[in-house]
Amino acid sequence: MIIIKTRQEIEKMKKAGELLARVHKEIAKMIKPGISTYEIDQFVEEYLKKNGATAEQKGYQGYQFATCASINDEICHGFPRRSPLKDGDIVTIDMVVNLGGWLADSAWSYGVGNISDEAKKLLDITKKALYIGIEKAVIGNRVGDISHAIQTYVESEGFSVVRDFVGHGIGRNMHEEPQVPHFGSPGRGPRLMEGMVLTIEPMVNIGRYESTIDDNKWTARTIDGKLSTQYEHTLAITKDGPIIITDQE
Ligand code: MF3
Ligand code: CO
Repeated sequence: MIIIKTRQEIEKMKKAGELLARVHKEIAKMIKPGISTYEIDQFVEEYLKKNGATAEQKGYQGYQFATCASINDEICHGFPRRSPLKDGDIVTIDMVVNLGGWLADSAWSYGVGNISDEAKKLLDITKKALYIGIEKAVIGNRVGDISHAIQTYVESEGFSVVRDFVGHGIGRNMHEEPQVPHFGSPGRGPRLMEGMVLTIEPMVNIGRYESTIDDNKWTARTIDGKLSTQYEHTLAITKDGPIIITDQE
């Protein structure tokens, strides 16, 4: 069942999203060679606490951290760790903020120091893919229209889209219906209606799209060891078009 949100509920989610956006902007300033994702995770937990919010991921199905930190060939659900980030790494920080019982979810990828031209292109195409998906998030379209637009764009640039992880509805719960794949056919899937709140979160790989899960049972990485990045926003479908709940602008 898709849970439709009222204007007032969307406003509450927007408050969670504004806080999450501020956290990402702080992280952007912190990322440099030598800092660890563990330090970033500690910072996020503290920052949320100071602002009357909590990290929804911590304790979710036994997950131990406030953030996911996925480095280089890790696709998603990487654990924050004490080893420092190195010049040339790319890292995705993903988190879900709970403010007053309402959630917002956003992942952002960052280059550490000097990164390769290929990594720069991957970051650029992945972020563009997110916004191309958001453009399709309008009343009357179907979920498949978002999926198809993202897949078509990413593949036209010679990269691949991860199949094993998808966007989702969100509200008082992290994962609600519908699922929002980043690949698929136009005109398929649930119709988009006013008051739906969704995440769009393409994970884009330089090489093959398949993933494998680490022994820690969480971390997904590319099967060919090549780079993967992700950008994710939470957005609301409204009569005036999509509202980006986690907008950083
Ligand atoms: N934020 C993730 C998403 O985009 C979910 C993370 S799984 C968790 O759906 F266990 F780490 F919470
Ligand atoms: Co997320």
